[in-house]
Amino acid sequence: PITHAVKRQLTLALLKPDICASQKLQVRVHEAIEAQNIKIVSQRPVLWTKEEAGAFYAEHKGKFFYDRLCGYMTSGPFQALVLSSPDAIKEWRALIGPTHPCRARIHQPTTLRALYGLSDTRNSFHGSDSDETAKNEIAFFFPELSIDNLLKVQDSQA
Ligand code: PPS
Repeated sequence: PITHAVKRQLTLALLKPDICASQKLQVRVHEAIEAQNIKIVSQRPVLWTKEEAGAFYAEHKGKFFYDRLCGYMTSGPFQALVLSSPDAIKEWRALIGPTHPCRARIHQPTTLRALYGLSDTRNSFHGSDSDETAKNEIAFFFPELSIDNLLKVQDSQA
């Protein structure tokens, strides 16, 4: 049989606690993801301890927003997603928009942070910024998944 290899990339997305506080919002965000032809490959609810937040955000230790960021991310359950599409890292970051929701509302008003973000801290979403980061972040939240296997499954379904 002739198989057509379709480029697939995985990324790690977080729907932060303010999104997950509302079932309706969470559903709306999932719909927005699927409307872009981005596939949700895996999902998991997460509730972090301070230590787990500190481990994930270790590179930001010492920055002025570090305590706020960790406080926010331990304020309630959030959701980790593995997303797949031909250019998942860029596509998801384009869909969520700029880090700061107030800037997003001015410059990219249709992005998810413009629509749902609350403040510089409570900016509702995270997305991996490179292939290497995506690999590490997917392994952080989904240690049981083999990324190579996931990409193979995606290919055979393409
Ligand atoms: S940096 O300094 O360029 O590395 O920062 P940046 O990549 O923009 O953001 C790193 C993470 O910190 C969050 N962030 C903030 N949290 C609280 N308050 C302020 N002012 C703030 N600025 C940035 C930002 O959302 C990033 O977290 P994630 O979860 O990766 O989105």
